[in-house]
Amino acid sequence: MDIDLGVTLAGIRLDHPILAACGPWTATGPEIQAVAKGGAAAVTAKTVTSEPRAGHPAPNYITWDGGALNALGLPNPGIHHWLTEFAATRERLREWGVPVFVSVYAESPQEFATLASLAAQVAPDLIELNASCPNLGHDPTTGAGSAEGIAFATAAVRAAVRLPISVKLSPNTSDIGRVARLAEEAGADAITAVNTLPAMLIDADTGRPALTNRTGGLSGAALKPVALRCVYDISRAVAIPVIGVGGMATARDAAEMLMAGATAVGVGTAIDSHGPRVLGRIALDLHDFMAAHGYPTVAALRGKAH
Ligand code: FUM
Repeated sequence: MDIDLGVTLAGIRLDHPILAACGPWTATGPEIQAVAKGGAAAVTAKTVTSEPRAGHPAPNYITWDGGALNALGLPNPGIHHWLTEFAATRERLREWGVPVFVSVYAESPQEFATLASLAAQVAPDLIELNASCPNLGHDPTTGAGSAEGIAFATAAVRAAVRLPISVKLSPNTSDIGRVARLAEEAGADAITAVNTLPAMLIDADTGRPALTNRTGGLSGAALKPVALRCVYDISRAVAIPVIGVGGMATARDAAEMLMAGATAVGVGTAIDSHGPRVLGRIALDLHDFMAAHGYPTVAALRGKAH
């Protein structure tokens, strides 16, 4: 059977549905190039902000049996420095034919719009609005991360740039379908679901929180069932495509995410655990899974669980 792994996401043609999700593995130019070489169909750069941020002190990223817990605090050099640093990498990825998504975080709709306009200078294929970082000292589901705040931010960015926009949502909300629908109505071209889930670990020997920030964002295997449920709910609520993220480490995980309704699958923590080549391996194994189960296209898998 001929298998076609290609997908179209918000007008962007991808060779296969396996992307590198935003995270510490895509913070620098060399890291972005490594995950592209590792076989990602597109790469989402680590979130950038208007001003430089030092992030939270270590320990800020720990692994445990169920995955990882991070409270990096959005460390980044700020958009102006980042644009200069990123220019050469943007050219490399263009030469290699690998789309690049730029993730931005801001405190207000107007700041989101300004930041997105600046990010547009490097002509990313898509801008991801990070409306869901759990490590900034306030609940991501309030303020700019509330359903209404997300709608305002999306509308502001929609008015400011012509590029496709995806809005990255927190799983920490009672009705993620409604949040996604408001983002869609405000002009989003896609939804990225989900960001990490607020969580904590405690060192039983010392009785102290394991992270300096005390709480962090849960990712990896423990997040997978939450992410699948969120993508299932979102894809029933909106017509725009969903990038499913959360605990994706194997082709079977990716197949389940597509069956939940995703159009593409973001891999994150597994890059940290297994290296960038895990991306190409998942894509190859997904091809074999589809051949073995008689799915000729990704569309044949999408939403199968509905
Ligand atoms: O703390 C962090 O840098 C995490 C960012 C995020 O989850 O968006």
